[in-house]
Amino acid sequence: MMGLDQKTWVRLCPLSDVPVGKAANLFINGQRLVITRHGDTAYVLQGHCSHMLFYFKDAKVDNCILTCSLHQSQFDIRDGSIVTWTEKITGRLLEEIKLKKQLRTYETTVRDGIIYVQWPTSNPDGVRVKF
Ligand code: FES
Repeated sequence: MMGLDQKTWVRLCPLSDVPVGKAANLFINGQRLVITRHGDTAYVLQGHCSHMLFYFKDAKVDNCILTCSLHQSQFDIRDGSIVTWTEKITGRLLEEIKLKKQLRTYETTVRDGIIYVQWPTSNPDGVRVKF
C-alpha cells in the first residue's frame, strides 16, 4: 500500500494553455499555486510571495525570473530561489533570508504536450485541479 506522502504525477493541462511571461493561478485541492512556462517547460510554484504573502497571479516572468508585483522581489522559477530581495539587506541576514524565504516549487513534466505535476497523493484521479 502506498503511503500518504507518496507522490504521483497529476495531469494539469496542455502546455499551450499556460501563459508565457506571467504567472497564472492554479489550484490543486484548493491549495493556491501559480503556473508559468519557459520554452517547453512548465513551472509550478507556491501562489504567494514569501515577503508579505502577496499573490503572484499575473506577476511578470521574464527569462525564468518572476517579479512580485507588490515590492518587486525576484525569484528564479526553476528552483524558487531568491534573485533579488525587496529590502536593502546584505551580508549574513541576506544569506539567511535566501535560505528561509525560498519559494516552494513542484516538479513538472510534459508528455505529449500535457503538463503533469508531482503531487503527494496515492489517488491522482481524486485530485481537484482548477485554474
Ligand atoms: S510581497 Fe512580494 S516583494 Fe513584498
